Amino acid sequence: MILAGFAIGAQRGFFYIRAEYPLAIKRIEKAIEQAYERGLLGNNILGSGFSFDLEIRLGAGAFVCGEETALIESIEGKRGTPRSRPPFPADKGLWNHPTIINNVETLATVAQIIYRGGEWLAAIGTEKSKGTKVFAITGKVKNSGLVEIPMGMTIGEVVFGIAGGVLGGRKLMAVQTGGPSGGVIPLKLIDTKISYEHLAEVGSIMGSGGLIVMDEDDCMVDIPRFYLRFCVEESCGKCAPCRIGGFQMLQILDRIAEGKGVESDLKQMQRIAQGMQKASLCALGQTAPNPVLSTMKYFPEEYRQHVEDKKCRAGKCTKMVQYTIDQTHCKKCKLCVVNCPVGAISGSREAGYVVDQVKCIKCGTCYEVCKFKAIVRK
Ligand SMILES: Cc1cc2nc3c(=O)[nH]c(=O)nc-3n(C[C@H](O)[C@H](O)[C@H](O)COP(=O)(O)O)c2cc1C
Repeated sequence: MILAGFAIGAQRGFFYIRAEYPLAIKRIEKAIEQAYERGLLGNNILGSGFSFDLEIRLGAGAFVCGEETALIESIEGKRGTPRSRPPFPADKGLWNHPTIINNVETLATVAQIIYRGGEWLAAIGTEKSKGTKVFAITGKVKNSGLVEIPMGMTIGEVVFGIAGGVLGGRKLMAVQTGGPSGGVIPLKLIDTKISYEHLAEVGSIMGSGGLIVMDEDDCMVDIPRFYLRFCVEESCGKCAPCRIGGFQMLQILDRIAEGKGVESDLKQMQRIAQGMQKASLCALGQTAPNPVLSTMKYFPEEYRQHVEDKKCRAGKCTKMVQYTIDQTHCKKCKLCVVNCPVGAISGSREAGYVVDQVKCIKCGTCYEVCKFKAIVRK
């Protein structure tokens, strides 16, 4: 940041960190303190005539405050909502001064470029995406955690190589990149390169560098519903396309997941999504439809099943699911009875066991623990 400040002639810099990340705050506080002690911050740094100060501003945990203009508003002490552009922050940003906003990861690369030269960085990556990218791999994967990869590595190389493949040897269904507003990428596109341009081509984004792995047990209607709900809850409400569009899309998706969807719902969601992408004030609303649009594109059969057959293959859309016991397969081992968290299964060895549909919370525990495939999911 000091180098970036020097390059653009700035005298002040801010770290904007969520208050919920105390470890990050502690470390940055220490780093700033050490930099002042060593004369790398403050007046006339190392006798260069350049002065630069750094401080921390804490965010109260709103997702939208990561959006650059909302972040500026928040630092200025106002409610964190995005500004319309132009003017762009580089012209008029924090307190109307020219401002650049970068991820810590980007700024961390600056020192390496100075040490090793621009050619070194440009030699790593794809034509348009240079250098490396840090990814947080989570979901149904053997080795989850943070990895730094050269841009251009394929999703498959990351999932099956670095992350050791899908948990429990199950089949990969899809991966989602870019955080809550990234797209869902199916198995058939596993050779997609991880770069800004290649991810955009398949309807996703690099975003914050999240990579969530999904297997056959995941439902391609329930997953986007989860992400859309997050974006709807985090919408600041300033612009109508995001505030109303997101809510309307979620209502439709909820209906579909409850088995009350109709065919026209899918077209309607697409229309609303287009409006959000075109007219939202910031990238939160512009990208919020991504998980829905990508799953509709790559998993149309799942949507068709939910809408027409009123069925959820993965059993995640619980309103459509019913668990019963097939008495011909049941060995009366009672594993389902003891594992049911709400005591919904009762009966006797003689009479057989049954699931009380009123008590059942559709968690699927009985289905998972039964060794004899006696639990039927419909
Ligand atoms: C809703 C939303 C949330 C965001 N959250 C973050 C965040 O937590 N951290 C971050 O570095 N950038 C976040 N961004 C992106 C920043 O606004 C900005 O584009 C980015 O930090 C630019 O840095 P870069 O060009 O160095 O990648 C977010 C963007 C949006 C739209």
